[in-house]
Amino acid sequence: MSQSAEMISLARRALHHLHHKTTDQADEIMSLPVDAYVDPVRYERELERIYKHRPLALALSVELPAPMHYRAMTVIGTPVLLVRGADGVARAFLNACRHRGASVCEEGRGTAQRFVCPYHAWRYDTQGKLIGIYDPEKFGKVDAMSHSLTELPCAERSGMIWVSLTPGESWDIGDWLCGFDKELDTLDLGNWFLYDQREITGPGWKVCWDGYLEAYHHNTVHANTLAKYTIGNLMLHDTYGPHQRLTMGRKTLGELDQLPEEQWDPQTHLRLIHSVFPNVSLSGIVGDHCLVTQMFPGATPDKTITRQTILAAREPVTPEQKQATATFSAMALEAVQDEDYKVGAKIQAGLKSGANKAFVFGRNEPAIQHYHNWVARFVAEDASAR
Ligand code: FES
Ligand SMILES: [Fe+2]
Repeated sequence: MSQSAEMISLARRALHHLHHKTTDQADEIMSLPVDAYVDPVRYERELERIYKHRPLALALSVELPAPMHYRAMTVIGTPVLLVRGADGVARAFLNACRHRGASVCEEGRGTAQRFVCPYHAWRYDTQGKLIGIYDPEKFGKVDAMSHSLTELPCAERSGMIWVSLTPGESWDIGDWLCGFDKELDTLDLGNWFLYDQREITGPGWKVCWDGYLEAYHHNTVHANTLAKYTIGNLMLHDTYGPHQRLTMGRKTLGELDQLPEEQWDPQTHLRLIHSVFPNVSLSGIVGDHCLVTQMFPGATPDKTITRQTILAAREPVTPEQKQATATFSAMALEAVQDEDYKVGAKIQAGLKSGANKAFVFGRNEPAIQHYHNWVARFVAEDASAR
């Protein structure tokens, strides 16, 4: 189906729900013991089997827009250095010197011709190769080939850079995405303008992430932000292996009733969210702005770091464009930090109280059900069988 035919089909489905006061539904209500949110042993196993061994979308291609651009970060305790080499290829390394382990690059984004370790000045090129050591006559002979930065499996696809935190892991990014790359390609992520990036702390991984997967809470939690623009509790649910596309209707959706389908511009009336397993959400692409969320589990099950990236279709230049982008950015921060995570903090605090032995996911929350089913599936999988 062509992209426009797909969008028309989504608009039809959304309108049908609007007329009938319905939404896409799971077959049944699902119950999940709250152990899944608090058990530290299970948490460790999830980090190991999902976050440490599966491809994670660690950066957008626009964060490394040209050769010599880098992005350094710590992911689940692992120091990672992403670099676009002189050959244009994005690579990932452990950000640890091969002499005695110091970080060779400060966290953040920037450009570099080479990386010089701050401890004893060993030097690496943008492809991770050791190109020189300090005072080699006194140090003794070092084999450069076997002292390159340790490379991590990495692939660039659909405007994102995917990395696994375990050296030597082998995977095919196409297999992992299960066709979702075609959906991601429609977003043309490589051509957006990176307006802002920030990190916010939040409650535990699943408490946070549940909120990114349903529209049931929009009219209540986001009455003054998102709910002004989108219809609450109406969602189309499409899946691609563990990944998901969620489609909501904008408040203007009903206007399509007045027009023949040939004149529809579905983009204007729908809000698409692409949810990349396990921790990335691309939201609100329609229109001129997009919120990219990357959520990383913290040191304990009750904490996370969320990285928000604000993209604009083009660099805002006029006062009106600057205002529109600033407004979108502020709303994204408010909706998550002051609305979602405020509720989340209370949920997190209550988890230990014993009030709930299990949480319940409604039939109108199919994406949360899908997510938790896939988490359980990966955790149950025999790691040695991979
Ligand atoms: S730890 Fe990097 S040069 Fe010594
Ligand atoms: Fe929310």
